[in-house]
Amino acid sequence: MENTMDNIENLLVPQMELSDKAAEKILTQLKNFRMLMSYYNCAIMEVQTKLNVLNEEYSLQHDRNPIESIKSRLKEPQSILNKLERKGLPFSVKAIEENLNDIAGIRVICSFPEDVYTIADALLKQDDIKLIKQKDYIMTPKPNGYRSLHLIVEIPIFLANEKKPMKVEVQLRTIAMDCWASLEHKLKYKKDFDFTAEMQDELFQCAVISARLDAKMDAIRKKVYENNDKK
Ligand code: GTP
Ligand code: MG
Repeated sequence: MENTMDNIENLLVPQMELSDKAAEKILTQLKNFRMLMSYYNCAIMEVQTKLNVLNEEYSLQHDRNPIESIKSRLKEPQSILNKLERKGLPFSVKAIEENLNDIAGIRVICSFPEDVYTIADALLKQDDIKLIKQKDYIMTPKPNGYRSLHLIVEIPIFLANEKKPMKVEVQLRTIAMDCWASLEHKLKYKKDFDFTAEMQDELFQCAVISARLDAKMDAIRKKVYENNDKK
Protein backbone atom coordinates (compact mmCIF):
# COMPACT_ATOMS: atom_id res chain seq x y z
CA MET A 1 0.00 0.00 0.00
CA GLU A 2 1.25 3.48 -0.84
CA ASN A 3 2.04 5.54 2.23
CA THR A 4 -0.21 8.57 2.41
CA MET A 5 1.04 9.56 5.85
CA ASP A 6 4.60 10.44 4.89
CA ASN A 7 3.86 13.11 2.33
CA ILE A 8 1.05 15.04 3.98
CA GLU A 9 3.65 17.53 5.29
CA ASN A 10 4.52 18.35 1.68
CA LEU A 11 1.23 20.19 1.43
CA LEU A 12 2.54 22.88 3.76
CA VAL A 13 4.13 25.89 2.10
CA PRO A 14 7.88 25.97 2.88
CA GLN A 15 9.26 29.05 4.66
CA MET A 16 5.75 30.22 5.57
CA GLU A 17 5.78 32.57 8.59
CA LEU A 18 3.23 31.38 11.13
CA SER A 19 2.05 32.70 14.46
CA ASP A 20 2.17 30.19 17.32
CA LYS A 21 -1.61 29.96 17.25
CA ALA A 22 -1.74 29.31 13.51
CA ALA A 23 1.03 26.71 13.77
CA GLU A 24 -0.83 24.96 16.57
CA LYS A 25 -4.02 24.94 14.49
CA ILE A 26 -2.21 23.40 11.51
CA LEU A 27 -0.61 20.74 13.72
CA THR A 28 -4.00 19.82 15.18
CA GLN A 29 -5.47 19.58 11.67
CA LEU A 30 -2.55 17.42 10.55
CA LYS A 31 -3.02 15.13 13.53
CA ASN A 32 -6.75 14.80 12.79
CA PHE A 33 -6.01 14.11 9.13
CA ARG A 34 -3.48 11.39 9.99
CA MET A 35 -5.98 9.87 12.38
CA LEU A 36 -8.69 9.86 9.70
CA MET A 37 -6.33 8.23 7.19
CA SER A 38 -5.49 5.56 9.73
CA TYR A 39 -9.24 4.88 10.24
CA TYR A 40 -9.63 4.46 6.46
CA ASN A 41 -6.66 2.11 6.52
CA CYS A 42 -8.37 0.03 9.21
CA ALA A 43 -11.56 -0.07 7.13
CA ILE A 44 -9.52 -1.38 4.17
CA MET A 45 -8.10 -4.12 6.40
CA GLU A 46 -11.61 -5.07 7.58
CA VAL A 47 -13.01 -5.37 4.04
CA GLN A 48 -9.89 -7.12 2.79
CA THR A 49 -10.19 -9.74 5.55
CA LYS A 50 -13.83 -10.36 4.62
CA LEU A 51 -12.80 -10.88 0.99
CA ASN A 52 -9.98 -13.25 1.96
CA VAL A 53 -12.37 -15.26 4.15
CA LEU A 54 -14.85 -15.57 1.26
CA ASN A 55 -12.10 -16.69 -1.09
CA GLU A 56 -10.86 -19.26 1.43
CA GLU A 57 -14.36 -20.64 2.01
CA TYR A 58 -14.99 -20.87 -1.72
CA SER A 59 -11.71 -22.65 -2.33
CA LEU A 60 -12.55 -25.27 0.32
CA GLN A 61 -16.16 -25.80 -0.79
CA HIS A 62 -15.76 -25.58 -4.56
CA ASP A 63 -12.06 -26.28 -5.02
CA ARG A 64 -11.37 -23.03 -6.84
CA ASN A 65 -10.56 -19.41 -5.98
CA PRO A 66 -12.96 -16.82 -7.37
CA ILE A 67 -10.53 -14.03 -6.44
CA GLU A 68 -7.31 -13.74 -8.42
CA SER A 69 -5.90 -10.79 -6.49
CA ILE A 70 -6.79 -7.87 -4.27
CA LYS A 71 -5.17 -4.44 -4.40
CA SER A 72 -5.78 -1.57 -2.05
CA ARG A 73 -4.81 2.06 -1.78
CA LEU A 74 -5.40 5.16 0.28
CA LYS A 75 -6.02 8.26 -1.78
CA GLU A 76 -2.97 10.55 -1.86
CA PRO A 77 -3.27 13.82 0.13
CA GLN A 78 -2.67 15.84 -3.05
CA SER A 79 -5.50 14.00 -4.84
CA ILE A 80 -7.76 14.56 -1.83
CA LEU A 81 -6.93 18.26 -1.91
CA ASN A 82 -7.55 18.47 -5.68
CA LYS A 83 -10.91 16.72 -5.39
CA LEU A 84 -12.04 18.96 -2.50
CA GLU A 85 -11.01 22.02 -4.51
CA ARG A 86 -12.91 20.76 -7.57
CA LYS A 87 -16.01 20.35 -5.42
CA GLY A 88 -15.49 23.77 -3.79
CA LEU A 89 -15.02 22.22 -0.34
CA PRO A 90 -12.55 23.09 2.45
CA PHE A 91 -9.65 20.80 3.42
CA SER A 92 -11.21 19.46 6.61
CA VAL A 93 -11.83 16.07 8.17
CA LYS A 94 -15.58 16.76 8.13
CA ALA A 95 -15.63 17.70 4.43
CA ILE A 96 -13.60 14.59 3.54
CA GLU A 97 -15.77 12.21 5.56
CA GLU A 98 -19.05 13.68 4.33
CA ASN A 99 -18.23 14.16 0.66
CA LEU A 100 -15.50 11.82 -0.57
CA ASN A 101 -16.33 8.14 -1.00
CA ASP A 102 -13.05 6.93 -2.46
CA ILE A 103 -10.42 7.71 0.18
CA ALA A 104 -10.18 3.98 0.92
CA GLY A 105 -10.13 1.92 -2.27
CA ILE A 106 -10.04 -1.83 -2.84
CA ARG A 107 -9.82 -3.50 -6.24
CA VAL A 108 -10.85 -7.13 -6.44
CA ILE A 109 -9.75 -9.00 -9.55
CA CYS A 110 -11.92 -12.07 -10.15
CA SER A 111 -11.42 -14.99 -12.50
CA PHE A 112 -14.80 -14.96 -14.26
CA PRO A 113 -17.68 -12.45 -14.62
CA GLU A 114 -19.95 -14.63 -12.49
CA ASP A 115 -17.40 -14.52 -9.66
CA VAL A 116 -17.69 -10.73 -9.55
CA TYR A 117 -21.37 -10.99 -8.62
CA THR A 118 -20.87 -14.01 -6.32
CA ILE A 119 -18.28 -12.10 -4.28
CA ALA A 120 -20.23 -8.81 -4.33
CA ASP A 121 -23.44 -10.55 -3.16
CA ALA A 122 -21.65 -12.49 -0.42
CA LEU A 123 -20.00 -9.29 0.84
CA LEU A 124 -23.20 -7.23 0.76
CA LYS A 125 -25.14 -9.95 2.58
CA GLN A 126 -22.97 -9.51 5.69
CA ASP A 127 -24.88 -7.66 8.40
CA ASP A 128 -22.13 -5.17 9.27
CA ILE A 129 -21.76 -4.02 5.67
CA LYS A 130 -24.06 -1.26 4.43
CA LEU A 131 -24.34 -0.53 0.72
CA ILE A 132 -24.23 3.23 0.12
CA LYS A 133 -24.04 3.25 -3.69
CA GLN A 134 -23.64 0.74 -6.50
CA LYS A 135 -22.65 1.37 -10.12
CA ASP A 136 -22.79 -1.63 -12.41
CA TYR A 137 -20.57 -0.79 -15.37
CA ILE A 138 -20.64 -4.47 -16.38
CA MET A 139 -24.37 -4.52 -17.08
CA THR A 140 -24.11 -0.98 -18.46
CA PRO A 141 -20.53 -0.25 -19.57
CA LYS A 142 -19.32 3.36 -19.75
CA PRO A 143 -19.50 4.90 -23.26
CA ASN A 144 -15.71 4.46 -23.60
CA GLY A 145 -16.04 0.70 -22.94
CA TYR A 146 -15.00 0.64 -19.26
CA ARG A 147 -16.47 -2.30 -17.32
CA SER A 148 -16.37 -3.00 -13.56
CA LEU A 149 -18.76 -3.28 -10.64
CA HIS A 150 -18.36 -0.39 -8.21
CA LEU A 151 -19.65 -0.53 -4.65
CA ILE A 152 -19.43 2.16 -2.02
CA VAL A 153 -19.87 0.36 1.28
CA GLU A 154 -19.85 1.44 4.89
CA ILE A 155 -18.15 -0.79 7.43
CA PRO A 156 -17.66 -0.21 11.17
CA ILE A 157 -14.21 -0.14 12.67
CA PHE A 158 -13.96 -0.82 16.38
CA LEU A 159 -11.84 1.71 18.28
CA ALA A 160 -11.09 1.71 22.02
CA ASN A 161 -14.17 3.76 22.90
CA GLU A 162 -16.29 3.91 19.79
CA LYS A 163 -17.57 2.10 16.74
CA LYS A 164 -16.92 4.23 13.68
CA PRO A 165 -18.59 3.65 10.32
CA MET A 166 -16.16 4.20 7.42
CA LYS A 167 -16.75 4.31 3.67
CA VAL A 168 -14.76 2.12 1.30
CA GLU A 169 -14.91 2.02 -2.51
CA VAL A 170 -14.76 -1.57 -3.78
CA GLN A 171 -14.16 -2.11 -7.49
CA LEU A 172 -14.74 -5.66 -8.71
CA ARG A 173 -13.72 -6.78 -12.18
CA THR A 174 -12.40 -9.76 -14.13
CA ILE A 175 -8.80 -10.18 -15.28
CA ALA A 176 -9.85 -9.13 -18.79
CA MET A 177 -11.68 -6.01 -17.52
CA ASP A 178 -8.66 -5.13 -15.37
CA CYS A 179 -6.29 -5.57 -18.28
CA TRP A 180 -8.32 -3.13 -20.40
CA ALA A 181 -8.80 -0.58 -17.59
CA SER A 182 -5.13 -0.62 -16.57
CA LEU A 183 -3.87 -0.12 -20.12
CA GLU A 184 -6.49 2.49 -20.92
CA HIS A 185 -5.56 4.38 -17.77
CA LYS A 186 -1.88 4.22 -18.69
CA LEU A 187 -2.52 5.53 -22.19
CA LYS A 188 -5.12 8.15 -21.26
CA TYR A 189 -3.19 9.73 -18.46
CA LYS A 190 -0.06 10.23 -20.54
CA LYS A 191 0.71 13.91 -20.09
CA ASP A 192 0.25 16.45 -22.90
CA PHE A 193 -1.52 14.13 -25.26
CA ASP A 194 -5.03 14.45 -26.61
CA PHE A 195 -6.83 11.31 -27.67
CA THR A 196 -8.25 11.41 -31.18
CA ALA A 197 -11.76 10.10 -31.90
CA GLU A 198 -10.15 7.25 -33.83
CA MET A 199 -8.06 6.22 -30.83
CA GLN A 200 -11.14 6.36 -28.58
CA ASP A 201 -12.90 4.11 -31.03
CA GLU A 202 -9.98 1.68 -31.13
CA LEU A 203 -9.94 1.50 -27.35
CA PHE A 204 -13.68 0.89 -27.38
CA GLN A 205 -13.15 -1.98 -29.85
CA CYS A 206 -10.55 -3.45 -27.48
CA ALA A 207 -13.17 -3.32 -24.69
CA VAL A 208 -15.62 -5.21 -26.92
CA ILE A 209 -12.96 -7.87 -27.64
CA SER A 210 -12.19 -8.13 -23.93
CA ALA A 211 -15.92 -8.60 -23.11
CA ARG A 212 -16.11 -11.31 -25.75
CA LEU A 213 -13.08 -13.02 -24.22
CA ASP A 214 -14.80 -12.99 -20.81
CA ALA A 215 -17.98 -14.49 -22.29
CA LYS A 216 -16.04 -17.25 -24.10
CA MET A 217 -13.97 -18.16 -21.04
CA ASP A 218 -17.14 -18.24 -18.94
CA ALA A 219 -18.76 -20.62 -21.43
CA ILE A 220 -15.72 -22.94 -21.25
CA ARG A 221 -15.77 -22.74 -17.43
CA LYS A 222 -19.42 -23.83 -17.40
CA LYS A 223 -18.64 -26.84 -19.64
CA VAL A 224 -15.67 -27.87 -17.47
CA TYR A 225 -17.72 -27.68 -14.28
CA GLU A 226 -20.73 -29.46 -15.82
CA ASN A 227 -18.44 -32.32 -16.95
CA ASN A 228 -16.75 -32.51 -13.56
CA ASP A 229 -20.14 -32.66 -11.80
CA LYS A 230 -21.16 -35.65 -13.97
CA LYS A 231 -18.10 -37.67 -12.91
P1 GTP B 1 -14.44 9.83 -9.23
O1 GTP B 1 -13.94 9.68 -10.64
O2 GTP B 1 -13.61 9.05 -8.26
O3 GTP B 1 -14.61 11.24 -8.81
O4 GTP B 1 -15.87 9.22 -9.08
P2 GTP B 1 -17.10 8.97 -10.03
O5 GTP B 1 -18.30 9.38 -9.28
O6 GTP B 1 -16.90 9.48 -11.41
O7 GTP B 1 -17.07 7.40 -9.95
P3 GTP B 1 -16.91 6.21 -10.93
O8 GTP B 1 -17.51 5.10 -10.13
O9 GTP B 1 -17.46 6.45 -12.29
O10 GTP B 1 -15.33 6.01 -11.07
C1 GTP B 1 -14.51 5.82 -9.95
C2 GTP B 1 -13.22 5.11 -10.30
O11 GTP B 1 -13.43 4.06 -11.25
C3 GTP B 1 -12.14 5.96 -10.94
O12 GTP B 1 -11.40 6.64 -9.98
C4 GTP B 1 -11.29 4.87 -11.65
O13 GTP B 1 -10.49 4.16 -10.73
C5 GTP B 1 -12.35 3.92 -12.16
N1 GTP B 1 -12.81 4.32 -13.51
C6 GTP B 1 -13.99 4.90 -13.81
N2 GTP B 1 -14.09 5.11 -15.14
C7 GTP B 1 -12.95 4.65 -15.70
C8 GTP B 1 -12.44 4.59 -17.05
O14 GTP B 1 -13.08 5.02 -18.01
N3 GTP B 1 -11.21 4.03 -17.23
C9 GTP B 1 -10.47 3.54 -16.20
N4 GTP B 1 -9.28 3.02 -16.48
N5 GTP B 1 -10.91 3.59 -14.92
C10 GTP B 1 -12.12 4.14 -14.66
MG1 MG C 1 -12.08 7.99 -7.61
